[in-house]
Amino acid sequence: MTASSTPPIAPPIDTETGNYFVSNYPPFSQWNEAHIPDFMQALGQPAHQQPLGLYVHIPFCRQRCAYCYFRVHVKEAAESIDRYLDAVLSEAAHYASFPAISGRPLQHVYFGGGTPTWLTVAQIQHLIGGLKSRLPWTNHVDEVTYECQPGTLTAEKLAALVELGVNRASIGVQTLTDEVLRQLGRLANAREATEAVGLARGAGFRQINLDFIAGLPGETEASWQATIDRAVELAPDSLTIYQFELTHNSVLNRLQGRRRLTPLPSWPEKRRWVAWAFDRLRAAGYTPISAYWAVRNPQQQRFAYVTESFWKGADLLALGETSFGHLAGIHYQNRDDLGPYLAAVEQGTLPLWRAYRMNPEERLRREVILQLKTGSLALAYFAGKFGIDLRHHFAKPLGELAQRGLLTIGDGEIRLTEEGLLSADWILPMFYLPHHRGVRYT
Ligand SMILES: C[S@@+](CC[C@H](N)C(=O)[O-])C[C@H]1O[C@@H](n2cnc3c(N)ncnc32)[C@H](O)[C@@H]1O
Ligand code: SF4
Repeated sequence: MTASSTPPIAPPIDTETGNYFVSNYPPFSQWNEAHIPDFMQALGQPAHQQPLGLYVHIPFCRQRCAYCYFRVHVKEAAESIDRYLDAVLSEAAHYASFPAISGRPLQHVYFGGGTPTWLTVAQIQHLIGGLKSRLPWTNHVDEVTYECQPGTLTAEKLAALVELGVNRASIGVQTLTDEVLRQLGRLANAREATEAVGLARGAGFRQINLDFIAGLPGETEASWQATIDRAVELAPDSLTIYQFELTHNSVLNRLQGRRRLTPLPSWPEKRRWVAWAFDRLRAAGYTPISAYWAVRNPQQQRFAYVTESFWKGADLLALGETSFGHLAGIHYQNRDDLGPYLAAVEQGTLPLWRAYRMNPEERLRREVILQLKTGSLALAYFAGKFGIDLRHHFAKPLGELAQRGLLTIGDGEIRLTEEGLLSADWILPMFYLPHHRGVRYT
């Protein structure tokens, strides 16, 4: 099937409620229980693919930030966090008993949240030590990332992470405008964010990444530019810049609905702000390597976990509540609440919620969609792996995007223009199969 029958997609203007960021394809709403037996069958087959990535979800936070769309549990008692960590370790041991996982060396590990740094040193040691004894965590592991929240970090905690082999700290800064952070109920302020960078540097991480969000309510163009100027002074190895999404499940969306709070920057404004940030970062020696990332040294800072593995169809073992992973072309996702997740694991079963077996066309589209986020698609890669010429297979959306000045089609690659790269997430649905367009995302 080609994309010739798909209706046009228009660029969004106002920041309305809904999902924008595309993290996977097909949309999660299409995954279902009926595909779980396919996933179980794949687990029973010896793996053809080496190596394996690991994602571990820590769904706890000390507070709920009003803009955040992650499902998190706030101020959970230490005992229930301990119980959760034990469940994650049981889940790891359970997976290790299947032929598709057994003995496969881990290449990348990512601890995301929530707030993984909300754990105590003892809990971190229990978790990472426990994973190492249950999964083949060997010298093959070349990138271990831990998401960090300013205000939950201590020198001791960061030293323990480095000691355990974590080499990449990803710190959630969001903005350095204190008034915006305060109004959004975020406990971490600009001073703590600045201190967090110093602490992480002192601990000796190989790479320090800072997360920002362009277009938070209350942010102005001037305060955004001041934030980026100060970020440059902090000299991180890389920066991630998301464009603000007002999602259904955020506190902010409920508040916005009741009494329109602050006017939200529009999508064209957010793109302009990110463009400004990328220009400022280029001038400071950084290179934008995707729609969201600018890095200081593109040879060393590769975000291998995502760009070289997940976005290229590699297998990913995902542990913890609501986590999603991928095995042999089949997506799977865990139960999305703590009670059902714990109950399933403690009964000795895998805590699966839904799965999706992709057909070859969907696998191709998934890689096109995710790799477009890097700003380019290599024609030879897709010809070699899928036996197609992207220029013919996707002639209609590519032609349309080229006409709008959002991409160029060359002999060796398809490349997004600067405006195309900043628009990546809204243009990606043009590459969906028609029946996946307009459906709920999650
Ligand atoms: C799990 S959080 C990072 C770690 C930590 N919990 C923190 O807040 O510092 C992952 C990232 O998602 C981004 N994010 C959260 N809500 C967002 C939203 N509504 N729009 C855009 N990005 C968002 C933030 O940049 C955040 O750092
Ligand atoms: S932004 Fe981070 S700290 Fe805030 S609620 Fe979301 S995951 Fe938790």
